[in-house]
Parts: sequence; C-alpha cells; structure tokens
Amino acid sequence: MEQIEYRIKERTRKIQLPTNLGFGNIFTDHVLEMDYSKEKGWNNPVIKPLENIAMHPATMFIHYGQAIFEGLKAYKTVNGDVVIFRPEDHFKRLNISAKRICIPEIDVKFMINALKELVNIERDWIPETQGESLYIRPFIYGSDPFLGVNPASSYKLIILLSPVGAYYPEGFRPIKILVQDEYVRSVRKGLGECKTPANYAASLLAGHEAMQKGFTQVLWLDGVTQRYIEEVGTMNIFINLKDEIVAPKLNGSILPGITRKTVIQLLKEWNMNIVERDITINEVMEKYDSGDILGIFGSGTAAVISSIGWLTYKDKNMVINKGEPGKLAIKLFDKITSIQYGIQADDHDWILNIDNKEVEVN
Ligand code: COI
Repeated sequence: MEQIEYRIKERTRKIQLPTNLGFGNIFTDHVLEMDYSKEKGWNNPVIKPLENIAMHPATMFIHYGQAIFEGLKAYKTVNGDVVIFRPEDHFKRLNISAKRICIPEIDVKFMINALKELVNIERDWIPETQGESLYIRPFIYGSDPFLGVNPASSYKLIILLSPVGAYYPEGFRPIKILVQDEYVRSVRKGLGECKTPANYAASLLAGHEAMQKGFTQVLWLDGVTQRYIEEVGTMNIFINLKDEIVAPKLNGSILPGITRKTVIQLLKEWNMNIVERDITINEVMEKYDSGDILGIFGSGTAAVISSIGWLTYKDKNMVINKGEPGKLAIKLFDKITSIQYGIQADDHDWILNIDNKEVEVN
C-alpha cells in the first residue's frame, strides 16, 4: 500500500466546542480519502482538508445505493491519552458489509494505521468531558458515473470525524420505544446485517411516525412473521429477565453490533446467563405480565448503553423498571465507558492508543 499523502491546513483559529455537542453536527478540519480502481486497487490515500464532494449526477451510489459505512469512536482518557475503541472489529465489519454488496475489501491493518494518523492530526478536536468523544465515520461508495445496475468499478473511501455528545436527547435517561408492526426493516438473507444506508432509509418513515407519537425510536420485528424482536433503530437490544439475559440471535437480518459483542463478552465474564436466542414479542409481553423483566436496554457505538423505560406494542404499554435505568444497564455503561476513558485498565485489548507504534492485525 502506498504512503499517505498529507495536505494539512494550518489551524488559524482555536477549536471551541459548544457545551451541548449533540450528535453529528460538527466536523473536524480534515478527512482521509482513498480511491479504488480495477487497475490500481485501493490507492491514493490522502489526509486533506474537509471539503464538499463534487460528483457527476450519474454517480452510481446515488441511484442504486451501493454504499457502506462504520461508526466507531476515539476518546481522550483521564490521563490525556487518545484511544480508539475496537478499530479492528469495526474495519473487519466494514469488509463484511463490503462483500455483501460487491464493494472491494480494504486492508484492515492499513486502515487502522491510517486512522491513527488522521485522529492524531485532529486530536485537539476530541472533547475531554466524559460522555463526549470523537465519532469516526468511515464510508465507501461506488463512484463511477453510469446508469446501468451493476457493481461500480471505482469507489471512494472517506473517513469523516465529528466530536459528539449523547446520541439521544434523553442522554442516559431511559427512552420510549414503539414496537413496529406496520413496516419492516429487513428480511433474512437481505441486507439487514450489512451496514448500508438502505437499512437506514427503510427505517425513516417508521422512526418519523414513532417520534410524532412521542417515542424516541422503534423496535423492529422480523421481516417475515413479525413475531420475533430484532433490533432498535440504531442499537441492538437486550432483555434482562430474572433467570437469563436474552440477546436476539444474529440471524442475517440483525446488525452484528460491536458494542453488542462487548456486552455479551462482559456478561459472560461476570458469569451471567446471557443467551443469544430468538425471542417473540409475545414472550416479552408474557414476561412483563409475570413480573420477570428486570430491564431492557440497547447497545451501540453512538448510543453506548441506553435503557428502555417504556415499550409499547399495539395497545399494550409496558413500563420497564418504573421508567428508571436498570441496574445491569448502569453497570455495563460504567464498565464500558470506564475502559474507554482510561479509568479502568483494558484487559481485553479493546483500546488502541494512537501513540502506540504500528498496529499488527491477526
Ligand atoms: C452507530 O452506533 O455508530 C451507528 O451506526 C448508529 C448511527 C446510524 C447513528
């Protein structure tokens, strides 16, 4: 792989972040870009000032959606280090998404080292307050101008950086979720497990209608029988029952979340009975009626761990843990964020310190 070209703009103003960062409104000064062509493969990596993208109106991804993305985060730790959470897992998942929609795979080791360079250049943009971080959005799209329905032959990869706070306006306060039975997000063997814009496009109307009714997001049911629960708009879901913690089993239509994987690993280490299995919405309602639900929470990079305080399915309104964050959700949130902010040692190798030497990948 080639050397990265650096086109760095001198910073003429001091970075001033607003007190309430929100999510996805502010962008740093530079991006990493790379091109793909059949002849050269991935080439021309450059770190350059953020600017608008000029593109031909026939650029393929605009018409047929051949695009994928990731979402990961960098943190400033309490010791002043800059760390990235599970970058290898995120770039490996980007490759899994790439395969599914005929996008050429990237070199994971190269990408991690290039990301370290980019984050280092933009390190002054990383917020120091706990609960805030630098959201990293790598994405790839088919870039040739052509109106035939084919995989593109050239691609662009960009990594964009955005200082962020809490994803939900509720912060860590429990959110209200509507179980969606009017629309489906994806079906097995479709694109559900691929991190592609199509899945988010499929979710927009349902999310919008739920918000108009006062909910934060929707819980999707499976796309065929509409009986099994799958995932929440931007998170995976966990149901904390008295005798087990259930994570809907990855079945092809659920996004294999990296935070989901982190939660499952922690629960196993804590000797808790975490079970990945199919679970119907009827079972959730029965367990609610018998008082067996201790908590429900979601996990995701943007949301971290988010308690669900209210769950509504048709005309049944379930109040979970009196609308308060569940104990397990709090414990997981504290554990994961303590590792991310360097308060607790990382004995899982989840954290990459950007000042460490070049990364090796297994
Ligand atoms: C993430 O958690 O990184 C996501 O991808 C959710 C995003 C669509 C806001």
